[in-house]
Amino acid sequence: MFILIYVLLTLFSLTKAISEHPILIVVSFDAFRYNYIENKVTPNLLKLRELGTYADYINNVFPTKTFTNHHSIATGLYAENHGVVGNEFYDKDKKQTFKISYELFHYDETIIPIWRLNELSGRNRYSGSMMWPGASFEYQGKEPTYLQKFEPESNWFKRVDTVLSWIEDPKKPANLVMLYFEEPDVHGHAYGIKSTQVQDMIQRLDNISMYLHERLVAKELVDKVNVIHLSDHGMVTVTPLKFINLTNFVKADTFKTACTSPTLHIIPNDGLEEDIYQRLKNASEENGHFTVYKKDDIPSRWRFKNNPRVAPIYAVANEGYAFHDMFKISKYYADKFGFEVTNTSEFGVHGYDNQLPSMHPFFMARGPQIKVNHKVPPFNSVDLFSLFCAILNIKPSRHDGSYSNIEGVLMGYHGSMLPIIVIIVGGVLLALLFIICIAAVTLLFIKRQQSITTVAALNKRFPQNLNHSGIEAQHLLENVDA
Ligand SMILES: *[C@@H]1O[C@H](CO)[C@@H](O)[C@H](O)[C@H]1NC(C)=O
Ligand SMILES: *[C@@H]1O[C@H](CO)[C@@H](O)[C@H](O)[C@H]1NC(C)=O
Ligand SMILES: *[C@@H]1O[C@H](CO)[C@@H](O)[C@H](O)[C@H]1NC(C)=O
Ligand SMILES: *[C@@H]1O[C@H](CO)[C@@H](O)[C@H](O)[C@H]1NC(C)=O
Ligand SMILES: [Zn+2]
Repeated sequence: MFILIYVLLTLFSLTKAISEHPILIVVSFDAFRYNYIENKVTPNLLKLRELGTYADYINNVFPTKTFTNHHSIATGLYAENHGVVGNEFYDKDKKQTFKISYELFHYDETIIPIWRLNELSGRNRYSGSMMWPGASFEYQGKEPTYLQKFEPESNWFKRVDTVLSWIEDPKKPANLVMLYFEEPDVHGHAYGIKSTQVQDMIQRLDNISMYLHERLVAKELVDKVNVIHLSDHGMVTVTPLKFINLTNFVKADTFKTACTSPTLHIIPNDGLEEDIYQRLKNASEENGHFTVYKKDDIPSRWRFKNNPRVAPIYAVANEGYAFHDMFKISKYYADKFGFEVTNTSEFGVHGYDNQLPSMHPFFMARGPQIKVNHKVPPFNSVDLFSLFCAILNIKPSRHDGSYSNIEGVLMGYHGSMLPIIVIIVGGVLLALLFIICIAAVTLLFIKRQQSITTVAALNKRFPQNLNHSGIEAQHLLENVDA
């Protein structure tokens, strides 16, 4: 009976419209600093940590900017290899600055982001992007099967519900979805990290995290869907008195800049490279709150400088400082949210050295392929790509990460084998059940026949002892029957 129920349940669950492949949702909260996770503010994320595996933080890539890091998460490559060297770049051949665009994300046409690799790795693999930065452009000529382009401030519950509808689509069930939330980045930039606005956003994100997992439980998908929660970078508070006006040292009409504080690509006018570098170098020594590099002198450990998109001069502010572009940016946030900029207004900035703890994002994961109540040492953002590939059971394309760094997150078994094992075991049990039934029916039939013939034979053989022997023979058969 139990076997029958088990077999029926198994068959029922297999007919549910979800992917035959391992399923993964990657959730990113923009600028969610690793230490935003605290008892009072994020009770749900702390609960989810215990149900799965977490690291104290991730070593993200330089510059600690949104598009750079989201693309490193998606490709497993450092900035110098995927070419998204900032949130924009200056193309010296085209003499043009590219902000978010197809060009920004296509330094190298051979780079395959995870959502594309998933779909290229076999039949019936479908990817979705819910507003993931960089995923609304084609790669190798194709968009993901499911694509919601960025729609700031759109309803968070609807984002989650839509993602789950992709996973449950009866015709093309998604087995990989990238899910993005633009907070607490927006409010962090506008109000600084200690603000009540940022605290509110952190609480709302904590709540939406639990909403996602509760929906998975309600839909009986919690044992089928792996969920990774992470972010791209942290955030630091700056005030206007710490905005460094580089045009005090170098005339504004002698150079261009690309990207935003605290890291600026500096593109000198023709023939002025050495002069501008010397002026900025002197100024940085005098000022003491920023560093200026010639391209070749940029630290190698950033895995950043070896790319033609990096400008000849590069300026990086010290933690808590920013450049003159922040005068305009702070005004933008003040107008957007309706306040006045004063000397003590607090704003948020990220992009600094990726070794600074303040720039580190968080990581946690939960699902059938993830260890329970487990902690792993901090690893690199570029290692995530091989984690995604392992969960999805696909062969990674070229990347800069290391599988051994993230192996500890995963359970010992191969997740994708599970459905096959269930089908085989279920099939064998079903066949056994069938054989047992047939055997039982046949046996019963044979016994009935024997009983009749035995009584008849006894009657014939001992007609004088009919009653006695007949009863004895019946009794014998009854024992066997019982
Ligand atoms: C928290 O999530 C629940 C659903 O899980 C929702 O009903 C509630 O409104 C949310 N609260 C906040 C403050 O967002
Ligand atoms: C920055 O410095 C330049 C040159 O001294 C000056 O013209 C400009 O007004 C300054 N910008 C701000 C916002 O203070
Ligand atoms: C930079 O400083 C050095 C030494 O203090 C000085 O000789 C040089 O003229 C300065 N260069 C510029 C461009 O200000
Ligand atoms: C803001 O700071 C500047 C520069 O230190 C100073 O000149 C100005 O008086 C300050 N404004 C106020 C309102 O304190
Ligand atoms: Zn970001």
